[in-house]
Amino acid sequence: MATEEKRLETILFDMHLQSPFILGSGPLCHDANSLIAAHKNGAGAVVTKTLRANPAINPIPHICSVSKDKTLINAEKWSELPYQTWVDTEIPKACESGVIVIASIGHTPEEVQLIAPLVLQAGAKALELVSYDERTMLDMVCKARKLTDRPILAKLSPNWNAPETLALQLETKGVSGFTAMDSVGPVLRIDIHTRRPLVEGENGRGWLSGPAIKPIILHHIAELAFQTNLPIIGLGGIETAEDVIEMTMAGAQAIGLCSSLMTHGLDYLPLLIRRTLELLDLLGYATLAEIQGVFLSEIQKERPSYHFQFTQEKCIGCNLCNLACPYGAQYTGKSGFSLKKNLCHLCGLCGSVCPTKALSFLPTGAFL
Ligand SMILES: Cc1cc2nc3c(=O)[nH]c(=O)nc-3n(C[C@H](O)[C@H](O)[C@H](O)COP(=O)(O)O)c2cc1C
Repeated sequence: MATEEKRLETILFDMHLQSPFILGSGPLCHDANSLIAAHKNGAGAVVTKTLRANPAINPIPHICSVSKDKTLINAEKWSELPYQTWVDTEIPKACESGVIVIASIGHTPEEVQLIAPLVLQAGAKALELVSYDERTMLDMVCKARKLTDRPILAKLSPNWNAPETLALQLETKGVSGFTAMDSVGPVLRIDIHTRRPLVEGENGRGWLSGPAIKPIILHHIAELAFQTNLPIIGLGGIETAEDVIEMTMAGAQAIGLCSSLMTHGLDYLPLLIRRTLELLDLLGYATLAEIQGVFLSEIQKERPSYHFQFTQEKCIGCNLCNLACPYGAQYTGKSGFSLKKNLCHLCGLCGSVCPTKALSFLPTGAFL
């Protein structure tokens, strides 16, 4: 078995990362010390908070947890520190501590022209360009490519019409890879006691991140990986080792984390690294690299048939599967599993709500 370091080793462009985990742009990247803390906890690289011509002033409040699974809504803007401070002190300090810094720049070509040469000179190893508007992204990449040979990541947004079509256009303009993706929105939640929005963004609107957005992001990662061979940093809703494996199978080469480290704390990262290695063991894989994009070939195979699997010892009699059946087709409990085949539509919901995996609905040939 390869050493633990080897198993998670990631080479992104020409950068040798200590792990595939990349701290995504957000409040945990607000200055040099926060970048250094992420590096010490095992991040392979860190993206700065987005730098713009003028520092941000954020509305109050601007981040809120909106569900038990810690999905977030935020109306946070770009860096509150001026870009010149990043250039003069923050990026050099982080680089001196061994951090691989990816500088995030938004949101216009003019700001790329102004900030990109300075952050690269200060030690940033790559650029990540971010825009609210897909039309400006092409110009931003063109501008950046004229300025540097270093890797340029385009951060794609799930809120754009056709991010994959844009990705292909960006490829012709010299983009090196993609960060997929930004938070989802605009979204709204209202506090029914105060009648105010939960975050005080423009018109009370904010942007969704964390577990709720993972299926949206996975869809785009798989689509992107299908259409381009450029590296993809999968970012959006990743919290558990299972999420890491899922994102990698969809085609991500590196794993971005933002909300989950905000809600669990940075010292959750070493735990996530350990759990990812344990899960790889359990699933019988040596490295993340060997499962990158395996979904893409799997989905092209003929659709399998499915079968029920029931393990009596695992059943806790919670009744959730019975409640979930829209057709009254199955009964599961202390007396076992019985199915009225003439009523069952093979929808699969019963197996998916079982908390102990006593009941599962699996592709033929697969067993838990
Ligand atoms: C509070 C907060 C602030 C963020 N600030 C930025 C930012 O300045 N620049 C940027 O490109 N993305 C920013 N993001 C988006 C994240 O980098 C990431 O794309 C998104 O949250 C999805 O990942 P997650 O589900 O792991 O959080 C921010 C996200 C949050 C939650």
